[in-house]
This record gives sequence, structure tokens and C-alpha cells, in this order.
Amino acid sequence: MTTQPQPEPGEYYLCSLKELQKEGVVVVDFEHPKYRKWELALFWDGERTGALDNFCPHQGAMLSYGMIFPGEVVCPLHSAVFDIVTGECLDRYTYDATAYETFVRDGGVWAQLPGRPLPRK
Ligand code: FES
Repeated sequence: MTTQPQPEPGEYYLCSLKELQKEGVVVVDFEHPKYRKWELALFWDGERTGALDNFCPHQGAMLSYGMIFPGEVVCPLHSAVFDIVTGECLDRYTYDATAYETFVRDGGVWAQLPGRPLPRK
């Protein structure tokens, strides 16, 4: 008998990898300990998953509406370029975005978050 690995504290299931691969981006609300309800944008660039605050550090545009390129998302408002895994602002247009560690387990996309995800609509 094999046992499923148990999630570590702070690890949460977000969606199936299939769904993320189909959509390219999935938005998930979670309970942030400081800001209460908070939103992250989960990205698939064709090879990797990445999760950033769904909030551009420049003027707050929703990064989930950005264009996705290999390893990058381009902000829909003023085109700052962010690494989808680290959140680094690659063109130095603004500050880095907050990134959350993601991983794939048993066909699901998981992330290390400071609070549990809220039910999706
Ligand atoms: S709001 Fe994202 S670059 Fe300005």
C-alpha cells in the first residue's frame, strides 16, 4: 500500500494542471494574514507554473490580464515585464511583484501561501 504525501503547512491545492494548461491563467483568492482576501494569478507558460500577486506593483493592474510569454508576463497597463516564477521585474520598469512558490503534485497545481485559498466561483 502506498501513501499519498501529506501537504506541508502552508501548501495548498489551487487547481488541476489540466485546467491551468487549458486557461493559461487562473485567478485564486486566498486569506492573506495581513490584507484579508487577496488574489493571486497562477500562470502556465507552456512549460512552467508560476504564481504572482494579481496586482502590479506599479499602479495595480491585474497581471492576470497580461500577455504570457515563456517565463514572463507583461502587465496589461504599462507593459512592465515580470518573471512568472520569481516576480522579478525584468525590464526594471517598477518594483518586483510578490511571487509564491508553486509545484505540481498528482496532476494538481499547489502553492506555498500565507493563508488558505477561498472557494472558487
Ligand atoms: S500598472 Fe503595471 S506597469 Fe503600470
